[in-house]
Order: sequence, then structure tokens, then C-alpha cells
Amino acid sequence: MSGHDITLTVNGTDETLTVEGRTLLVHALRDHLGYTGPKVGCERGKCGSCTVHLDGEPIKSCTTLAVQADGREVTTVERIADDGTLHPVQEALHEAHGLQCGFCTPGMVMTIVDLLDRESEVSRESVRHALKGNICRCTGYQKIVDGVLAVAEETEGVQVGSNDQTESDFTPAENTRTNARGGD
Ligand code: FES
Ligand code: FES
Repeated sequence: MSGHDITLTVNGTDETLTVEGRTLLVHALRDHLGYTGPKVGCERGKCGSCTVHLDGEPIKSCTTLAVQADGREVTTVERIADDGTLHPVQEALHEAHGLQCGFCTPGMVMTIVDLLDRESEVSRESVRHALKGNICRCTGYQKIVDGVLAVAEETEGVQVGSNDQTESDFTPAENTRTNARGGD
């Protein structure tokens, strides 16, 4: 099978590699380049553990071919902390006891960072909606949402609205989205 030479800019570094046409971006990142932050969970676009940013947009790297990312910028969770200092999102999840396992947390962090980058107002409901593409198999989301709202309070340009949605209204299992932002 012939290989494809591609170049990815990963976390600011140009990386050239040879992949098969069928190689998924998550495998290119992990197996070819050693960026093990993105995790392989469902490999079907359902769980969000492989979430990275591609040209600044969150995507599920298990539903993206590596060749589709040729010439583009990829950001993984390894870039989120700044030289050993946790990103405010990571710090807030830590403070709220919203950090879960190393499997689901990286994808959740990538989704939350994007959420706070693009939204000027968030609420408990909108945070839950944003996280519907990130599945934890073991526990609840209450503390994660608490952490996101806490960091949103401290984020310039982001306001925190209120709503009365309850924990039981959140049903991540209903999620069928194929990328972290959903729908497309
Ligand atoms: S491994 Fe990509 S969404 Fe589950
Ligand atoms: S899958 Fe990570 S804590 Fe449940």
C-alpha cells in the first residue's frame, strides 16, 4: 500500500510523516508522532476522548483522516498547559474535583477551552450541551460543569447566565454527534 507524505503543524511544530490513506488523525498523532494526549476510545465519533483542535476548531480525530489534516494546524491537550502551568480550565476542573480519568479528561478540556474561546455567555445548560460529545463512562458531570462555570466567571469576555436545568436533564448517551461541536 502506498504511503502519503503529509505535514502537520502540531502544537506549533511542523511534523512530516508518511501515512496510509486510511490512517486516522488520532493514530497519526499518537502512533507516528507520540502525542498521546488524544485518547482512542470508541473510534466512532461518539465519546470525545480523541478531541483535538484542527485549525482552531474542535474535531474528533478518530473521524478525521490524517491526510485531511495535511498542511493544517493541530492542537492537542499537550499544548493547553503553559510550560508546566495548568491552563485555567485545567486548574478549575482540579479545584472543583471535576477531573476524572486520564482517558476522558483530555477531550473534555479541549471542548471546554473551545467553548470559552467562542462564547461570550455560558450557562449550566449550555455547558452541558457543549459537553454532550464527551462521554464519561463511569460517573457524573456535576463537578465538571461546576468547574467550567467557575472558570467562566474568571474569563474575560465571558458572562455566566443562569437556568434551572437539573442534572437529570443531561443525557450524554443520546449524543450522536460526529465531532465535538456537533451536527456536521
Ligand atoms: S475515540 Fe474519537 S470520539 Fe471516541
Ligand atoms: S471515562 Fe474518564 S472518569 Fe469516566
